[in-house]
Amino acid sequence: MGLWMLLLLLLLLQFHLGNAPRIESGGKCGGLNGLCVALPAPTKVSISSFNLEHTLSFLPGPETPPDTHFTVQILRFRKSTWKLVTGCSELVVGQTCNLTRVLKDPFQSYQARVQAFTPNQNQTSKWTISKRFLPQSDTVIGPPDVSVSGCGNCLLLYVTVPKTSGLQQDKQLQLLYRDLHIHVHRTRDGVQFKLNLEYKEENMISYLQPGVEYCVTVTVAVFFNSNSVPSKPFCAFTSPPPRSSLNVVFCLLGAFCVIGFFLIGVVVYGGQLSYELLRRRLPRSLYIALQSQDRGSAALELSDQTSPPHPHPPPPPTPRYTTGTPLTASPPTEAQL
Ligand SMILES: *[C@@H]1O[C@H](CO)[C@@H](O)[C@H](O)[C@H]1NC(C)=O
Ligand SMILES: *[C@@H]1O[C@H](CO)[C@@H](O)[C@H](O)[C@H]1NC(C)=O
Repeated sequence: MGLWMLLLLLLLLQFHLGNAPRIESGGKCGGLNGLCVALPAPTKVSISSFNLEHTLSFLPGPETPPDTHFTVQILRFRKSTWKLVTGCSELVVGQTCNLTRVLKDPFQSYQARVQAFTPNQNQTSKWTISKRFLPQSDTVIGPPDVSVSGCGNCLLLYVTVPKTSGLQQDKQLQLLYRDLHIHVHRTRDGVQFKLNLEYKEENMISYLQPGVEYCVTVTVAVFFNSNSVPSKPFCAFTSPPPRSSLNVVFCLLGAFCVIGFFLIGVVVYGGQLSYELLRRRLPRSLYIALQSQDRGSAALELSDQTSPPHPHPPPPPTPRYTTGTPLTASPPTEAQL
């Protein structure tokens, strides 16, 4: 009994979905189904979805006239009325239909269909129906936003829902996130392991070697959905790498030492040079005076001795020839003796 009812229902549904006339089509198409099915039906009607952003695409049937337009309708599963998608009622070849706002419920099944029609609408094609589409399982889960930082012998891993253009998708996407499949890879030697954690924004990967770089790749797992795209690798040191920081310190120290030695060299050599210059330029007396300032009086004596003769020496005593004998020391004359 139940089976018969189901069959009847299916038949009814088939009739309703497949052969329903275009909602807006009036005039010549109304009752004459044969005339209306003159245009080739569109092909490859499919819904693609990335992070719950849904796009319907299709191709025109063979020998479709160039001025043909296309219209899109969707059906919420278990409801029997097709609804026109606003904004997708007059598409041309190559255009797609954004279904993000229309297929709002990720846990609801949908179908879409496309029909070709001529601009004056006296010719239409058969509808071409897409496969059933369930956003939750059919959407491709893109890589999450990841950041990694060291915490000693562990890594802190932040995983968030990527920023999508629509605000609603963020929240819905977060609802779908179940588990994190984490792939950890040690940069130095390529040692790797896998880890599954229940989805949280903040996660810790423990028991790692400190001061070592690890790279982490994260894939979000969603129930009944195997379309997850892994993130790119994010790398971080578990704790600040000690050796490399020491190296920096040593390098700085070395640089300072070199600069220091250089400066000392300049001072010493420069001092010698200026001393040499002094010795060449200054009169010898002054040089010696400078050289032995601390020796005080000795230097003064020396300078006295070496000073040039007095400019006005006292005139030698002029012999006064008086009548008597000379007064001063003149060699005694024979007469005196
Ligand atoms: C549709 O209408 C156009 C002009 O309005 C006409 O030229 C054409 O023959 C019509 N096509 C059909 C199949 O009725
Ligand atoms: C589709 O529509 C959603 C919601 O309006 C929007 O966020 C998204 O950017 C659209 N996608 C494209 C490819 O235009």
